[in-house]
Amino acid sequence: MRITDSIVYVGVNDLEIDLFEGQYPMHDGVSYNSYLILDEKIALMDSVDARKTKEWLANVEKALDGKKPDYIVVHHLEPDHGGSLMDICKKYPEMRLVMSAKAVSMLAQFGFGELAGRAAAVKEGDTLSLGRHTLHFMMAPMVHWPEVMVSYEESEQVLFSADAFGKFGAIEEDDDEPWADEAREYYINIVGKYGGPVQTLLKKAAARPIRVICPLHGPALTENIDYYLNKYNTWSSYAPEEKGVLIAYGTLHGNTGKAARILADLLRNAGETVAVMDLARDHMSHAVADAFRFDRVVLAASTYDGGVFPAMESFIHHLKTKSFQKRKIALIENGSWAPMAAKTMLALLEGCKDLSFCENTVTIKSTLNEASEAQLHALAKELLA
Ligand code: FEO
Repeated sequence: MRITDSIVYVGVNDLEIDLFEGQYPMHDGVSYNSYLILDEKIALMDSVDARKTKEWLANVEKALDGKKPDYIVVHHLEPDHGGSLMDICKKYPEMRLVMSAKAVSMLAQFGFGELAGRAAAVKEGDTLSLGRHTLHFMMAPMVHWPEVMVSYEESEQVLFSADAFGKFGAIEEDDDEPWADEAREYYINIVGKYGGPVQTLLKKAAARPIRVICPLHGPALTENIDYYLNKYNTWSSYAPEEKGVLIAYGTLHGNTGKAARILADLLRNAGETVAVMDLARDHMSHAVADAFRFDRVVLAASTYDGGVFPAMESFIHHLKTKSFQKRKIALIENGSWAPMAAKTMLALLEGCKDLSFCENTVTIKSTLNEASEAQLHALAKELLA
């Protein structure tokens, strides 16, 4: 697959993977991207996960058509990208490695210590001329890991963006799934904690005209570049992406879940966009992504062992690790003799910046009754105000 006349995609799809990073379920696989820049000097951009070494080596060899790469540029050493480095370096012993100084220092951790002698450490603003193409290196520490850098190819205005602008899902020719859904899941769950470093990278990127973004996962982005930049600006600044309500609930016997669904109906009937997540059944990563997507979040949970339903505790923990902030929160609690869920959820949310809370908190004693249904209606009204 050609990205431009002289940039060729040589990455691979992984359709067999069940959990990305050992925790995120993949319903449509994931791609590990790699590109070749063909010029007087040839640069290979990143390797791939060791799960796909053989297929990747074959892709590279085919695209090289008898030539040899002069450089491999390593933007990110995490094993989903660095996993095949040793294999490619053995295959092309003359090839030099180009990476950040931090990446060089980390090589040995992955068993690649012997490659350090072949590595050139680059820093912010360094360039590498390939002939017509010139790569400009920009350091992007913590745009997932500390050793990350991105590179900008000047002649064709291509940004090789490492994990940034990636998405879950294998690359398919006729993929008509909206980019933002899988990209949001990917960004919030994988990179979401590091909004500040992403903002820094966006500011650096804004200084250059960009025609194409080549990320390490998902398709190369070739049109409406501002759309992708704007999404990343929203996500990394923790601003709500759209108006809407996530109702996330944990329920022992179904009564809290019933209240969550009644509230959802009340809001939907008023024209609101609503997502409902059963935290014990829906995957946490989907609920986390929706919490960052919408401007309002309702947390509905049973009391459990004097605290809150464990899946809700886990959900709030996940939100906090991703720097959850700038949202309006409503609470629904259930407790048959000593409701403690609302108090516990409030305590767990302490430390999140810029949260506002609805005045109406719903308390259910086992099952909904007239009083708690009235509280639900009052909460719906407040959320719609
Ligand atoms: Fe796709 Fe941070 O690795």
